[in-house]
Amino acid sequence: MEWTAAREVGYPVIEKQHRLVAILAQVLANMNKPDGRAALLDAYSQLADYASMHFAMEEELMAERRYPGALEHKRAHAELASTVRALEAELKAGKQMIVIGSKTVFFLQTWIRDHVQKTDREFAKFLSAGQKAA
Ligand SMILES: [Fe+2]
Repeated sequence: MEWTAAREVGYPVIEKQHRLVAILAQVLANMNKPDGRAALLDAYSQLADYASMHFAMEEELMAERRYPGALEHKRAHAELASTVRALEAELKAGKQMIVIGSKTVFFLQTWIRDHVQKTDREFAKFLSAGQKAA
């Protein structure tokens, strides 16, 4: 079942999504506040943690199972990591929080829709198909 496969990737897709939505909410709640900068920087460090933990887990499993979509999936992971670093750098360079915050919100919404809900699910399906065949 997809549930089992998703657990194998770390934890269920729904929990992964919750974590990202919580970070997204933190950005939304703070990007308009004059003292919101620290909360935005904290959101980027949470995203970096999230990336290093879950991406490594997924990528290890992709290699182990010889997942045919591994290259493209890994490229998407690298893109999230570099986008987060770029946004953080822009904020640190003094760009307006509202501008960087809006970019971050848009990026995370797109990531949840295109990666967590599609790319990660495809991988989970591949894993569950393998489990059934074994
Ligand atoms: Fe992924």
